[in-house]
Formats: sequence, C-alpha cells, structure tokens
Amino acid sequence: MSEPTGIEQSNLPNLHVDWYEAAWIRVSLFMMVIFLLAVIAASTAFGIQVPGAYSRIKPDEIMAPGSPFADPGLRELAPGKYEVYIRAATWSFTPSEIRIPVGSTITFYITSLDVQHGFKIMDTNINMMVLPGQISTLTTIFDKPGTYNLICHEYCGAANATIGHHTMYGQLFVEETPPSQ
Ligand code: CUA
Repeated sequence: MSEPTGIEQSNLPNLHVDWYEAAWIRVSLFMMVIFLLAVIAASTAFGIQVPGAYSRIKPDEIMAPGSPFADPGLRELAPGKYEVYIRAATWSFTPSEIRIPVGSTITFYITSLDVQHGFKIMDTNINMMVLPGQISTLTTIFDKPGTYNLICHEYCGAANATIGHHTMYGQLFVEETPPSQ
C-alpha cells in the first residue's frame, strides 16, 4: 500500500477564481499603481515631503550661545521669504506670536527643550511632531490673510488645573500689509 506523496501528482486541482474576484484584484492592482505614481509625482514634480528630521540638536545645547534656538524668532531672508526658529517647551512656544505679510514663504524650524510636543497650525496642513533632540522643519506659503492658531497636539502633561498641555498654543498673523519693523 503506497501513500500518495503529492510530488508525483500530475493533475493539480484547478484554482478557481470567480470572475468578480479577479476583476476586483485587477482594480486593486490598478489603484496601487495609481497611488504609487501619485506619491512619485508629489515628491518629485511638486516637492511635497513628509515633515522629517531636518537635523539633530542635543537638548542641552539648545540654549548654548550661537544656537538659533537660544534666541528664537522670525528672520526675513529676502522679500517675502522668512524663516522662523521656534523653541517648544512645557508649556509654551517661543515665540508664540509670528507676523508675516500675506504671500510669504516661511520655513519653520522647531525643536523641543524637554518632552515630546506637537506643532499644528489650524486650517493648514502644517502638522509636525516636535521631539527633543530633533529639528523638525516644513516650508509653506501663506496666501490667505488671517489669524492662524497654532497648537501643541501631543499630550505633554499637566501640573494642575490651570497649567498644562491645553495651554500650549500660539498665533500666526498673516497680514495684508508688510509689518513695519
Ligand atoms: Cu506641548 Cu502638548
């Protein structure tokens, strides 16, 4: 009596795939190709990047002389082109108020002095993690005037009922006319 080994089996059972299942597999593959092309196009043609670690900084060097985070703030690089260094700490952003003229391109550099914070500007897609040891960066153009609230959206603790994560916020003013310096 010999057991069937399977190796000698010549006629494997036909793998049956229903036509609608096959159709949806093709649709899924097609969509994956479209998504892949969209990601490639976004990152190459449009320069859209996920907010990343621009560079690293040791938390104990943030306040050292010469560190841009020791004296954070807005700097005009060229007409309509700004950079801002922001220091996040429990429970504030420094500076907490930023003023730029409408149509400006602004690059944010932000790091944390202590624990993990978040940086989100409402009504925009600016949304970054702020980690101690890491400088997060993002460049964007503000072409709509108005007041934009910026908040910490990573829970970073509370000391009592009045001070804590929920009080960590600031404002970005996009002004119709250039601010007088
Ligand atoms: Cu900082 Cu929540």
